[in-house]
Amino acid sequence: MSQSSQLLSGAEGAYSRGLILAIESSCDETAAAVVERGRHVLSSIVASQIAIHAPYGGVVPELASREHLRNIVPVVRAALDTAGVSFSDLDAVAVTEGPGLAGALLVGVAYAKSLAFALGKPLIAVNHLEGHIHAVLLAHGEMLELRDGRSLALVVSGGHTHLYLVRYEGESFIYRNVGATLDDAAGEAFDKVAKLLGLGYPGGPWIDALAPHGDPSSVAFTLTQVKQKAHRPDSPVDRFAFSFSGIKTAVLRYVQIHDLYPSIERRREALAALPTAGPAEALAWCDDRTLGLIASFQRAVVEDLKRKTFQAAETLGAESILVSGGVAANRELRERFKEEAKKRGLPIAFPTIALSTDNAAMIAAAAWPRFLAGGFAALDLTANASLALGKK
Ligand code: KG4
Ligand code: ZN
Repeated sequence: MSQSSQLLSGAEGAYSRGLILAIESSCDETAAAVVERGRHVLSSIVASQIAIHAPYGGVVPELASREHLRNIVPVVRAALDTAGVSFSDLDAVAVTEGPGLAGALLVGVAYAKSLAFALGKPLIAVNHLEGHIHAVLLAHGEMLELRDGRSLALVVSGGHTHLYLVRYEGESFIYRNVGATLDDAAGEAFDKVAKLLGLGYPGGPWIDALAPHGDPSSVAFTLTQVKQKAHRPDSPVDRFAFSFSGIKTAVLRYVQIHDLYPSIERRREALAALPTAGPAEALAWCDDRTLGLIASFQRAVVEDLKRKTFQAAETLGAESILVSGGVAANRELRERFKEEAKKRGLPIAFPTIALSTDNAAMIAAAAWPRFLAGGFAALDLTANASLALGKK
């Protein structure tokens, strides 16, 4: 019997269908999902606030909280309706406790607490980063077999670029943070570069779609090499540090040196004049130099993420690789990571594209082992904007 099936049978009878309603509101998506036994997604509803934040080129925290307040009731209702279940069928309510925007998190936490209290159901607090890691396990049942070994997880999104060593022990997952960014997250670099070049928000999907049209060797970017060992020689966290603010500045310098501003302005105006504009429309307004810049930027970021992730896996003896978070939706990243994993004979897994970016199904999945272990939150739970995952 595999560990996962032992785990399920061990708690048999303690619940009915194993239905968890999860709520996620850490950033700019209001999401709710119903997941059965941590594995079967019955519904996953995501109300995106992209249109609201797009004019500002980034998430405006006050607007995000207000939109969560507006969306949370209909989103939860839609999650239940789509799953074909009612409140009384639920076994627990899970919610993202942190990290994220304090005001945004608070909406989900307050709503989940009241719901759990009113229904008399247990409340489970979930770390958003643990959710991203569990999105991979949702998509790949076979990866459960890897629970016996150690996996290296790269969580790469708009707010995070973290490496975790993940072990499955007893009935729970143990995380060790073995790498992080010292400045910008990788997704933030995608967003800022896209904004600079007059593309839409969030920038990742625009750059992803435009990069194949450019020559990735046209601009030679060198990512900042972080001198880690100088201050904490024994810390693996320092050894696998990332830094993305340098490449953002390098793109800016390239734009200045080659005076790309007039063409950026023309592109920005042309796209703003269209009722709906996407990368396909932007392509007509990008010259070869701009496309080369986009392709070279993406190549440099992907190569840096790849190199450090696989170096960490080798050094720490990881037997598999998990990659999740919004930037894990990137096509070049997926291709390059898969190639490298194949070369090294390491299994690798990603969430589905839909579950790569923020959603609540991943929160329900991460809540499941905690539900089985009876790890419930008290009703005085509060949002924790800077919640960390695992020991360093
Ligand atoms: O995980 P997520 O939805 O939210 C956070 O927890 O941050 O990640 C959003 C980030 C944004 O920076 C967005 O530009 C980036 O993920 N992203 C992408 C792609 N899709 C989303 N970056 C590169 N390529 C993509 N296809
Ligand atoms: Zn996220």
